Amino acid sequence: MFTSATRELPEVRPVPRHVAIIMDGNGRWAKKRFLPRVAGHVKGVETVREVVRACIEQGVEYLTLFAFSSENWRRPAEEVSRLMQLFVSALENEVKKLQRNGVRLKVIGDLSRFSPELQTLIQTAERATAENRRLVLTIAANYGGRWDILQAMNRLAAEKPEAAGQWTEADLEPWLAMSYAPEPDLFIRTGGEERVSNFLLWQLAYSEFHFTETLWPAFDADALKEAIASYQRRERRFGRTSEQVQETGN
Ligand code: IPE
Ligand code: IPE
Ligand code: MG
Repeated sequence: MFTSATRELPEVRPVPRHVAIIMDGNGRWAKKRFLPRVAGHVKGVETVREVVRACIEQGVEYLTLFAFSSENWRRPAEEVSRLMQLFVSALENEVKKLQRNGVRLKVIGDLSRFSPELQTLIQTAERATAENRRLVLTIAANYGGRWDILQAMNRLAAEKPEAAGQWTEADLEPWLAMSYAPEPDLFIRTGGEERVSNFLLWQLAYSEFHFTETLWPAFDADALKEAIASYQRRERRFGRTSEQVQETGN
């Protein structure tokens, strides 16, 4: 198990071990160029490639990307269907590259709503890359933070019904969708919006937030460096005073 920021003091490293990103602004990027929204999503996939590479170079161990939220089904059917196609083609085309680069792929979210084809592709990709250790790349798809907490609660309830009323954070955490990863150190949202949009609600309890106006298709390795530099200027106190942090050096 990994350290929980509310229960123990996590070790603070100069390079965030886990970066979680809301990739926002694809539609606006396309609109500015008089292109259909999907062109922004296509360009956004290229950004994913660049950011994966940059994370490996920087020594980030876990990268989590919000690709499709549980609320994104509200979009026009045409856009949802193009996003699903993109997801399928990315899985078909990128897995070999992930393999070569030592990247383990994980997909979190309620996958039951996806087509059987997509579900199989996800399973195959996860299995094929399961032994890779250089970077764990998690794609959140049909993911919602509230869904995550509830599915964890429901599974815990089924497992330990006798302890109901006495469950602790530590009891719940193994059932959360990202129990295989430490909590995000750095949360980035591109595209200028400053909200969490039902992303990792539980896991972001003590993450440092970085918002940038840069639209996702225009985000790149330098923009990631800038976000990490901003992270390095923060003092992560986890409830303590600044004096206490300086005394312990962590
Ligand atoms: C993020 O970009 C990608 C997804 C939500 C799939 P948007 O599509 O939300 O782009 P904007 O916010 O409309 O510019
Ligand atoms: C959040 O982006 C979800 C993803 C990036 C996948 P949205 O663009 O859908 O977020 P809201 O609804 O504007 O907050
Ligand atoms: Mg958006």
